Amino acid sequence: MRFDLITASPGIFEGWRSHSILARGQAAGHLQIEVHDLRDYTHDRYRQIDDYPYGGGAGMVLKVEPLAEALDAVRGMAPEEPEVVLLTPQGEPFVQATARELSALPRLVLVCGRYEGVDERVREHLVTREISIGDYVLTGGEVPAMAVVDAVARLVRGVLGDDASPEEESFSEPLLEYPQYTRPAEFHGWRVPAELLSGHHERVRLWRRMERLRRTLARRPELLRRASVSEEDRRLLARIV
Ligand SMILES: C[S@@+](CC[C@H](N)C(=O)[O-])C[C@H]1O[C@@H](n2cnc3c(N)ncnc32)[C@H](O)[C@@H]1O
Repeated sequence: MRFDLITASPGIFEGWRSHSILARGQAAGHLQIEVHDLRDYTHDRYRQIDDYPYGGGAGMVLKVEPLAEALDAVRGMAPEEPEVVLLTPQGEPFVQATARELSALPRLVLVCGRYEGVDERVREHLVTREISIGDYVLTGGEVPAMAVVDAVARLVRGVLGDDASPEEESFSEPLLEYPQYTRPAEFHGWRVPAELLSGHHERVRLWRRMERLRRTLARRPELLRRASVSEEDRRLLARIV
């Protein structure tokens, strides 16, 4: 899957994209992450990408012309028609289902805003989707873009190595993940649950399912209303309650 990020601060992405799963995914050919400097699409000596807002008020607004030119150029860099996402606190909430949906696409272009945001005509005419990573305001779209790329990229087939590993994670269905432990089996008297040490596959599976349900009920009960609850889940929930 190919990601193109359009930003006024390309340096922010350098260390990030050359580490860990993203680096391995790119090396293995599953991912391509390209970063484009918005200033490369200006034509004045100051490489101006922002201007004062019409009507007055504080702050600056990203201009439409460099973004339009950048998007045109970036679109032409690969044959597939991309989804073009504007990162904005006013967009649709980004959840695991969004990540899963986007991970099925061949291409994603992400536009990072800055300052007071982008000229409204970008939103109206140049992007296909608007995404928010939460109900808070960040300085720029770079951290939201990293969150989106990270969440999407790890769902692209082959990237995690073991295709099954995202399946039991939090939100893969509307449930949180079960607690995880590693060695030692005891530390300061704090013991790993006996079920996990039993070596008994079915006991481990049941314990994990129970803990997923218990944890979701305690922390995010509203998720459980969306989960498909099996007969076994009902029995486990009855034990929990
Ligand atoms: C300071 S914000 C602008 C906020 C804008 N004035 C508003 O009130 O909606 C600058 C940029 O950061 C990015 N941004 C900030 N918070 C975000 C969020 N929660 N989700 C996605 N992008 C965000 C957007 O790209 C935005 O254009």
